[in-house]
Amino acid sequence: MIVHVNHLERGWGPAASETVGPLLALVEESGLDSRVLESLRLHLDWIQYRSNFREPVIVRRATDGSGRPLALAEIAVDLRQARHEGFRDAVRHALGKVAAEPDGDGDGTHLDDWRPLHESVIWRFNDLFWQRLSDWEAATGRGFEQALPSGRSDANHPDAVADSVADFWTLLREIDKKGQLPAEVFALEIGVGTGARAGLWLDRFQALDEERGTGYYPRIRFLLGDYAMPTLDRALATVGRHRELVSVLALDALNPLKALSFLRYKILYVHLTNVYDNLPIDELVRRDGRLYLVETRAYLPRQTAARIASEFDIAPAALPRTAERLLEAGPDASVIARAARSSGRHCGPACAWKRGCGLWKASRRYRCHRACSTNISRTCWPGPLTTCGSRSRAEPPRASSTRSRCCTRAAISRCKISS
Ligand SMILES: C[S@@+](CC[C@H](N)C(=O)[O-])C[C@H]1O[C@@H](n2cnc3c(N)ncnc32)[C@H](O)[C@@H]1O
Repeated sequence: MIVHVNHLERGWGPAASETVGPLLALVEESGLDSRVLESLRLHLDWIQYRSNFREPVIVRRATDGSGRPLALAEIAVDLRQARHEGFRDAVRHALGKVAAEPDGDGDGTHLDDWRPLHESVIWRFNDLFWQRLSDWEAATGRGFEQALPSGRSDANHPDAVADSVADFWTLLREIDKKGQLPAEVFALEIGVGTGARAGLWLDRFQALDEERGTGYYPRIRFLLGDYAMPTLDRALATVGRHRELVSVLALDALNPLKALSFLRYKILYVHLTNVYDNLPIDELVRRDGRLYLVETRAYLPRQTAARIASEFDIAPAALPRTAERLLEAGPDASVIARAARSSGRHCGPACAWKRGCGLWKASRRYRCHRACSTNISRTCWPGPLTTCGSRSRAEPPRASSTRSRCCTRAAISRCKISS
């Protein structure tokens, strides 16, 4: 067995060592066969987000390109959650699963099938959240920034905004000196949230421009880009007195050029903050020199599923269908409240949102690693995507950066070849 310490958060050394001792004792107690132990890996992680889709202890299996189980198995522990009271039982359970024949299924109610990370149902919940943000805010009575770990967005820090404005002004000055400054200067923010940063940026740019007497401010054409129209409306209201210079653009950060090709080579400034972690990505992992594509499956742990099903007044087996309807129609009266109404209980929009979000937050993801047979090279995906299994999609995989997208496509392409 190999133990991987993947992260040691400052101050968490003692917690990590407090975890490793009992873990090793539990491995010994499990009496695992030495052949199983040989291919067992223990991963100690520290998951950044307090609210995440991982249980404190999970088992990850590996398969070959066509989905046949391989010996390699991993137990991954989130050190942040390791002080959880059921931790020892969770480790025992995980060791039992490693010892058993892989059945491809886990405990709990599945919300989707095994699929590459970028196709997980979790991203559909994320999209629903941003598209219906104002409903969520109305239901919870707080803005989304208050729900961030620090309670506010780090995008709006005055020093960062001032630095960005100063750099951009300097760039414009240099272009101007060469006599190449266009009559209209396009600037773009993608994923604008409340629009607070765009407003601050324009305030600062105007002030600097006036101070230096350069007359650039009236030439600015500031584009607010986001894929949620209600968010764009709100951001436009936030930029207030700069409105004359501002336009909104519905665009998908995964392919901004789709909406912006008419401005190709004309945009001189692009900014985005806290958007990448909202974009579906794929992950590749290297284990013992071999590359694997991470696949996931969303589920509700058994007890959680029972609790949520009773709140919704439905059988646990009906949860996947309810989740699907929730994603299609939103957690408004038509989906969740109807179930409550049929049992004589009342559930208005706020209650429906609370329950809908409860289901999303309670969901967890299993992970498995599907082997890719050859090395990754930076080639881009040439045609329709076919994953390691038999599913195919017309769209290429959505990834958070060109680099990872290219790598992932190449990896998937190799998986396809190998399967
Ligand atoms: C976490 S908020 C960040 C807001 C702001 N930039 C900040 O840092 O405070 C994410 C923003 O990105 C937008 N967004 C998420 N996915 C997007 C996508 N695929 N295309 C465009 N905008 C997206 C959301 O609507 C939301 O406005």
